[in-house]
Amino acid sequence: MNTEKNPTTTSYILVTGGLGFIGSHTVIQLLENNYHVLVVDNLSNSEMSVLENIHRIVGDKQNALKFFQTDIGNQESMERLFQTFSIKSVIHFAAYKAVAESIQNPLMYYQNNVGNTVVLLSLCMKYGVKSFLFSSSATVYGKSRSPLTEDSEVGIGITNPYGTTKYFIEKILQDLSHAQSHTVSPSSAVTPMKIVILRYFNPVGAHVSGLIGENPKGIPNNLMPFVLKVARQNNPAPRPDCVPGYDPAYEKLSVFGNNYPTRDGTAIRDYIHVTDLANAHLKGLEYSGREDSPMLDVFNIGTGKGTTVMELIQTFTRVNGVKLPYEICEKREGDLDIVFCDTEKSGKVLGWVAEKSLDEMCVDSYGFWV
Ligand code: NAD
Ligand code: WQD
Repeated sequence: MNTEKNPTTTSYILVTGGLGFIGSHTVIQLLENNYHVLVVDNLSNSEMSVLENIHRIVGDKQNALKFFQTDIGNQESMERLFQTFSIKSVIHFAAYKAVAESIQNPLMYYQNNVGNTVVLLSLCMKYGVKSFLFSSSATVYGKSRSPLTEDSEVGIGITNPYGTTKYFIEKILQDLSHAQSHTVSPSSAVTPMKIVILRYFNPVGAHVSGLIGENPKGIPNNLMPFVLKVARQNNPAPRPDCVPGYDPAYEKLSVFGNNYPTRDGTAIRDYIHVTDLANAHLKGLEYSGREDSPMLDVFNIGTGKGTTVMELIQTFTRVNGVKLPYEICEKREGDLDIVFCDTEKSGKVLGWVAEKSLDEMCVDSYGFWV
């Protein structure tokens, strides 16, 4: 119940993990659409320079942004935020997301992704949050066949603890939503918290300014950040201040398998520009605020187009005019052959469609140099 807070009169959107790859791009879209934003991030996979660059991009709108460096699992500091600010909605990005790391250290993933989400949800319920958007992943579909709709089977054949954390959190949200709808009568003064689950496919790209983008700590697991490392090492830097140090790991890109049942033998994925993905969150917020939206809903956030690894490499080299050395290697354990989504529901119900092309994803990705 909303009984203990003495909040600001201004309503805020709380963005957990808001200095991360997707969170930072979403924060920019929120500010540019005149939302007031609270960002919480423990900088486990981001840096303060991202906040400085958000300020550079949004200019005066930075006055509507407040940042708190804390762990969402720190109940005391998180509760102070809910007591101080009127938090109307939460967009929950904060998590660990490295598949290989999750296999080696599952408890760290269950604690951070699942345990800390329960802490956050408890505070949301206590302080009367009206809507909760969750960063889920196509990985919850396991081995279901593409094109994937929101009704495709989930939870079967997930190949790593990271994906399982996303599936578990979806189940937690469904149980919470069910409990709310059985305890909050229509006439009740307490409005329930609407939940929107967004299942992202493969986000890539960067802000068109080149000031923010994907910059994971350590050796990248994902294709595009690895492509960027190899391209930076094998081509002239656009500016003298961003010449990367030499690392033999980035001499060439490993293409994990070329004997999949696809048009060129390499695996297919549904790559989506991070700015399109950020915009989907604004649509999710609007949708959750509609009288007629359900207590919980799920949407695929992808383009509905499948692209092979080789097609991405060819597009990247063409649009950026760079060399990208690669070698064909063995398949990566746990990789699926074809993953892409059906976009009908997100188009018709959410009113959202991805607009940017693979060319733009590749140009904008390479435009971000760190
Ligand atoms: P990211 O690692 O760039 O961003 C996550 C942010 O959360 C980081 O800034 C990190 O410092 C922060 N964080 C992590 N644990 C925290 C904690 N306990 N307290 C406070 N801050 C914490 O990742 P991303 O690519 O921006 O992904 C954002 C969300 O989207 C994640 O939940 C991820 O699982 C999900 N997702 C990502 C992808 C993808 O391919 N990038 C695909 C599907 C879903
Ligand atoms: C894409 C394609 C690889 C790297 C993962 C997670 C998923 C989500 C997105 C968080 C695959 C190939 C990759 C490389 C390669 N993350 N590849 N060489 O595996 O589709 O999904 O990231 O939610 O949960 O599972 O993305 O970018 O790792 O791989 O050939 O160096 O590129 O085999 O076919 P993936 P990815």
